[in-house]
Amino acid sequence: EMLNGFSTDPLTLTQWVLVQQQKEAPHARGNLSILLNAICVACKFVDSAVRRAGLSDLLGLAGTGNIQGEDQKKLDIVANEVFINVLRRSGQCSVLVSEEIDDEIIIEGGGEYSVVFDPLDGSSNIDCGVSIGTIYGIYKKEKTEAPSVSNVLKRGRELVGAGYCLYGSSCSMVLSVGKQPAHFTLDPSLGEFVLTSAHMRVPEAGRIYSINEGNSSLWADAISRYVQECKSPSNGKLPMSLRYVGSMVADVHRTLLYGGIFMYPADRKATQGKLRLLYEAC
Ligand code: AHG
Ligand code: MN
Ligand code: MN
Ligand code: MN
Repeated sequence: EMLNGFSTDPLTLTQWVLVQQQKEAPHARGNLSILLNAICVACKFVDSAVRRAGLSDLLGLAGTGNIQGEDQKKLDIVANEVFINVLRRSGQCSVLVSEEIDDEIIIEGGGEYSVVFDPLDGSSNIDCGVSIGTIYGIYKKEKTEAPSVSNVLKRGRELVGAGYCLYGSSCSMVLSVGKQPAHFTLDPSLGEFVLTSAHMRVPEAGRIYSINEGNSSLWADAISRYVQECKSPSNGKLPMSLRYVGSMVADVHRTLLYGGIFMYPADRKATQGKLRLLYEAC
């Protein structure tokens, strides 16, 4: 409900989480709610660092690399540290797995959840102010399970929650705890994520395809034929438009809102595809 351009019925992410908990799990102890709030706080800190990066000497390389053989940017490291500290302090996690850390982090006496995350996705876009994001997934371990990396080496459908935060022209948080994802937008004047859409659903028809076409000479035939079909549909329809940000979070967010297709297929250079199942794809 809007009055003079002002929402008179706002629902913040924190409230939404508490309401969901009461509705779906009235007898739960609220540990997942504490964890989701921690993730929300970490994303707000990363958003603030991203917005200030050019002013606070936070652009450029950190001078270190990660286990996937990538050079780390300063913001990759800042986002990673913020996530680890906030998650550790939440008291709800016993295993943390980050794109920027070689090994899993085990927290003795931590909680029943494990979080896998890509603290800053799309790092090639940091220095030119193009959208970047954070991706996270939450697994729960059995009480009897010892905290170990096997707590997260599970099928994606075993996630108890997952989402991403997009640091774009506005800051968007998208979160699913098993049902349709909900979309929140950060209101910078409140410092709160406010509910924008309770049920995000990808439109059935979309006119956009999204792929790094610079790799086309490395693609398998089927991919080349499919992309050709996007450009000149054999059924006489109009061509689709190409949009490719090169930050998965941004490309996926646009696809969820506008429809179409986003792809990073295996090719002769990236024989398994480039996106990482653990902290990006699942
Ligand atoms: P990251 O910055 O976390 O290492 O991941 C970047 C990923 C993903 O965001 C994006 O879809 C893809 O790499 C882009 O790769 P290309 O530059 O090869 O297109
Ligand atoms: Mn990376
Ligand atoms: Mn990534
Ligand atoms: Mn990353």
